[in-house]
Amino acid sequence: MTKRSAPNAPRPPDSCRPTPVVPAVRTRNIEYAIRDIAVEADKLRKQGAKILPLNIGDPLKYDFATPRHMIEATYKAMLAQQNGYSSSTGIDAAVEAIQREAGRKGIRNILSLFVAHGASEAIELCLSALADPGDNILMPYPGYPLYTAVMQKIQSEIRPYYLDEANDWQPDVADIEAKIDARTKAICLINPNNPTGALYRRDVLLQVIELARRHNLVVFSDEIYDKLVFDGKEHISTASLADDVGFVTFNGLSKSYLVPGWRVGWAVISGPREIMGDFDEAVHKFVRARLCANHPEQFAIQPALEGPQDHLADVNARLTERRDYTIDRLNAIPGISCVKPEGAFYAFPSIDVPMDDKAFTLRVLNECHVLVVHGSGFGQRPGTRHFRVVTLPDRPTLEAAYDKLEAFMKRIR
Ligand SMILES: Cc1ncc(COP(=O)(O)O)c(C=O)c1O
Repeated sequence: MTKRSAPNAPRPPDSCRPTPVVPAVRTRNIEYAIRDIAVEADKLRKQGAKILPLNIGDPLKYDFATPRHMIEATYKAMLAQQNGYSSSTGIDAAVEAIQREAGRKGIRNILSLFVAHGASEAIELCLSALADPGDNILMPYPGYPLYTAVMQKIQSEIRPYYLDEANDWQPDVADIEAKIDARTKAICLINPNNPTGALYRRDVLLQVIELARRHNLVVFSDEIYDKLVFDGKEHISTASLADDVGFVTFNGLSKSYLVPGWRVGWAVISGPREIMGDFDEAVHKFVRARLCANHPEQFAIQPALEGPQDHLADVNARLTERRDYTIDRLNAIPGISCVKPEGAFYAFPSIDVPMDDKAFTLRVLNECHVLVVHGSGFGQRPGTRHFRVVTLPDRPTLEAAYDKLEAFMKRIR
C-alpha cells in the first residue's frame, strides 16, 4: 500500500524525502498471464460473482485427489523427523527411482539428475547454467510462460519458434531452423504441450534432434504431462531418440501424480560426456548453492513412480471425456475452432472476433463470469487470436461455461 503523508504535513527537506526503490530492469517485461487474469477474477469474486474457473492447470482445484499412498509416505517421513536439509541432488531413494523411470522411458547416457522445487526450479537452474546475456534459446510459441520469465531474469534472448496449428500444433521445424544463429544455445520442447495439448510425433522429434545435432545445441524437453495422454497414444521421451546429442529432460510429480503444491520436480541430464560434461558440472554449482529441494515430499517420489498407478487410468478417462466434450462444444460455436488435444489438460481454440484476445478474455470474464486465459499470454503467431481453457472441470461446470460462451459469441459477432 502506498504511504501518504497527511495533507497539511510540512514538506520534508529534499534530503529526507522518501525515494522509491528502483526495481531491476529485468523485471520490466515479465508477465504471467495465467495468474494476472486471475487477479481480475478475484475482483469480481469480492463483489459476489460466482466465477467458472477454466484457467488454472491445477487438478486439485477440481475433482481430482492425490493418491493416498503418496500422502502417507510424506507424512511418515515428517514423523520420522526427515525435516532437515537433504543432499542437494535429492535423497537416494528418489534419485534412484527417477533414474530407473528415465531408463523405462528409454533415456540412456544419463550424466546426472537432481530433484528440484518443482520442474520450475529445475528449468530455471538449467537455463541459468546455459545462457549468457546475448545468447538465445529457441522457445515454443505458444508455450508455457515460465520460460520467457526466466529468460528475462537471466537477461538472455527468447527466440520464439512457432507451433503449427494447421499441423495439429506440432513444432514448425522449418521455423526452428530459420531462427538458429551463432548465439543459439538450445531448443526447448514442451511435450505434451501447454497450452495446446499437442503430443509430438516421432518424426517431428527426430527432425528437431537433427537440427540440434547439426548446430550443436542442447535439447530441453519438458515432459511434465507425459503420463496424461489419450486415445491409446504413446508419449516419446525426446532423449530416448539419440545418443549423440545433449538433452535435459524435465518432469515431476505436480501433474501426473496430482501434487502441484508439493513442489517436487526434477531434471535428467543426458548425452555424451564430452558434449555435456561442463554444462552438467555448471548446473550442479547452482544445485548445490540452493541447498536442496523440499525434503519430506521427496519420500513420495519412489512410491509415486513405482507404486500403484491406478489413479492414472481414472484421471485419463475423465480427462478424455472432458476433452471430447470441450472439443465438440467449442467447434460447434461459430467463430471458434479448436485442434483436438492428445495430452495434458488444455485446449487452445482460435477465435475470429472483432477484438484482440485479451479484450475478449476480459469481456468473457466480466460478462459471462467464465475465466479463461488469453492466447497472447502464451505467445502466438502474429495476426492470430486464441484463448486457453483447461479441461479439468467437471461436466456441469464445462457445460455452464460453454453455454455462456456460446451466447456471448452470438452477441458479439
Ligand atoms: C509445461 C510446464 N512445465 C512446468 C510446469 C511447472 O511444473 P512444476 O509444478 O513441477 O514446477 C508447468 C505448470 O503448469 C507446465 O505447464
